[in-house]
Amino acid sequence: MDRTAERIRLLPRYLFAEIDKKIKAAQEKGIDVIKLGIGDPDSPTPGYIIKRMQEEVARPSNHTYPPDEGVKEFREAVAAYYLRRHGVELDPGKEVVPLIGSKEGIAHISFCFTNPGDVNLVPDPGYPVYGIGTLFAGGIPQEMPLLKEKGFLPDLRSIPVEAASRAKLLFLNYPNNPTGAVATKEFFEEAVSFAREYNLIICHDAAYNEIAFDDYRPVSILEIDGAKEVAIEFNSLSKTFNMTGWRIGYAVGNSLAVEALYRFKTNVDSGLFKAIQYAGVEAFTNPLMEPFLEDLRKLYRDRRDVVVKALQDAGWDIDPPKATFYIWAPVPQGYTSQEFVTYILEKTGVVVTPGRGFGKNGEGYFRIALTVGEERLKEAMERIKGAIRFG
Ligand code: MLT
Repeated sequence: MDRTAERIRLLPRYLFAEIDKKIKAAQEKGIDVIKLGIGDPDSPTPGYIIKRMQEEVARPSNHTYPPDEGVKEFREAVAAYYLRRHGVELDPGKEVVPLIGSKEGIAHISFCFTNPGDVNLVPDPGYPVYGIGTLFAGGIPQEMPLLKEKGFLPDLRSIPVEAASRAKLLFLNYPNNPTGAVATKEFFEEAVSFAREYNLIICHDAAYNEIAFDDYRPVSILEIDGAKEVAIEFNSLSKTFNMTGWRIGYAVGNSLAVEALYRFKTNVDSGLFKAIQYAGVEAFTNPLMEPFLEDLRKLYRDRRDVVVKALQDAGWDIDPPKATFYIWAPVPQGYTSQEFVTYILEKTGVVVTPGRGFGKNGEGYFRIALTVGEERLKEAMERIKGAIRFG
């Protein structure tokens, strides 16, 4: 008899855990798999961060529980980064909370605000954790379609008034996963005024704010006047510094939301290993940060150009994204997104993510993560081209 709680029985399996199983099964059959599924950077964490970690891990004072509110120097380093990068002043004592990766905070924020039966507004397609965290808290995810003709921005004014009035949280994510779309300051202004009108907390996921190309520099929602009254922004060192395995992120902004998350977390986890937080300080304060990021942007820009050109050469109508390391492309006619990615994996050994995995408006698309080197990417595109006619 299945004794698991209903919340587990109803929980969908995590998109990337399922894809991982398929990869392992293909590898066991001896297939040379090219992984363009999960957005897990293939490049190493910068040496200056690793060196600091090595020093800090050897210090016995770092082996005890970390301070509940996080290491002060880490909170200060995040605040200094926001001032430098976005011109946003943050109080490191009240407006910054370290997270065990931004996924953790995103999954838990619903527990802080969403009562059973409340609505959270979530983008569709979108990172699955916005909706899953909502469901865990007993809330109801109300999808906001992200459509190509609207630049993959939600049309806030088309949200039914009844749903907006019952809503607690509004999740946004720009630069956007999975579509690669970006948001203007005007869009964020509109979102802030919408949140004020409906008394919502905006949860902005800014995980890709440093992965942007061609002189485009993403804005923080906290740059908008009055945003701190209604918004909390989540970010992570995962994509910015190739640190997905380290599990370090943070949330900043509205002090009530930061405090609620802090209070929740102190009751369920015991924070991040101090050595990792000091490595995080190094990430933000070392003068090598900007040159490192310049190289990182160039690396992904070159990869983006390889893939976009290969798709265009095959007759694909696609524009290069301004940010993120994802390419969001329509599946050829005659396939659902799941059928297409299954076919591609079986026929070519290339793993891409079905758009449907990000929500019903992801149907008709697939996502390529630019997380292998240029040569491997070229090979992946050749293999796909050989298996299918695009367009
Ligand atoms: C993705 O592939 O969408 C992301 O890597 C997932 C994540 O950041 O957890």
